[in-house]
Amino acid sequence: MRTTEQAVPGLSARQRLYGIRSRVRRFRWELATGGRPLARWFPRTWFTDPLALVDICSPWEVAWVTRHAATQLRGIGAVVELGPWLGDITAGILDGASRNPAATDVVVDAYDLFVFDDIEARTAGLPLEGRFHDGDDFLDLYRTRLGARSARVRPHQGDVLDATWDRDLPIEFLFVDVAKTWEIWNHLAATFLPALVVGSVVVEQDWAHACTPWIHLWHHRWRSHFAELEQVPNAGSFAFELIRSLPEAAFEPTSMDDFADDEIEAAFDWAASLVDPERRPNVRAALVQLHTLHGDLDTASRTCVRELAASRIDSELVDVALPELAARLAANR
Ligand SMILES: C[S@@+](CC[C@H](N)C(=O)[O-])C[C@H]1O[C@@H](n2cnc3c(N)ncnc32)[C@H](O)[C@@H]1O
Repeated sequence: MRTTEQAVPGLSARQRLYGIRSRVRRFRWELATGGRPLARWFPRTWFTDPLALVDICSPWEVAWVTRHAATQLRGIGAVVELGPWLGDITAGILDGASRNPAATDVVVDAYDLFVFDDIEARTAGLPLEGRFHDGDDFLDLYRTRLGARSARVRPHQGDVLDATWDRDLPIEFLFVDVAKTWEIWNHLAATFLPALVVGSVVVEQDWAHACTPWIHLWHHRWRSHFAELEQVPNAGSFAFELIRSLPEAAFEPTSMDDFADDEIEAAFDWAASLVDPERRPNVRAALVQLHTLHGDLDTASRTCVRELAASRIDSELVDVALPELAARLAANR
């Protein structure tokens, strides 16, 4: 990726090096906790790029997509990224593709609002504080940060609920980091998933997180159509490869009413079993969150206590699902 000079001019050398010691410490630690196979693909700019401090994906996810684009893309379809934020994953895909003779023509179709909504909180206390404001359009920043690579990106700015895709255009690689509501997930399932072909790879960035339980339910229901590739080390993303075409029913909208209790429990047992022990409670937290968001606070409370009793690790169970449940219980009093 380019330096931040072009994207955020005027930073001092000291500001550019902000946090470098802790980044090096984290890198070394995470190398030892599963990162080693990806070390060759690790984004070098991560150590000194101040914008990396507000990237939401982990640099290991960047390394993973870089390796995937360099070694796995076969040129059988489009590359689509849903929710690219400031472009770290886009850059990784394009850097990898540039090393892959089958993928040198790749263009990334990137769908995002490209409007900041919480950048002031994210930059508070950092050298970037005060530079960006909630409500700012960040499409130019995304393009500038990508530098020459932006010629190989087609940004689609706007609400992804309005996004369209021609299902006859196969998608070879789909990176999903925008399925933040069930409504959005239903739209993605109807719009992008019909374009998957056997051999397509889908990365669910929100897999080992609490807030998007609909993706676990959908993937569990259609799991016999996918190979479970791997969890990205030190990160929440999980990659699936389509091995059998999906039926039309997979693209239909779903809601809580479409899932029986035992299917829900089985879905989260399975979803949690795919990830490392440290992140398993995050997936269990998604089960609590599912009941909370559905408004069944009794079931959410019972499930939450059961999961807290089973988990010894601090996780999104404590940091995300429990506070959300507590807030709703308080509001209902
Ligand atoms: C969690 S961030 C993605 C982080 C990113 N993958 C990275 O590499 O750091 C979610 C992204 O989805 C975008 N987004 C959220 N809701 C959206 C919507 N309804 N339509 C389009 N984009 C949306 C946000 O602007 C943000 O860039």
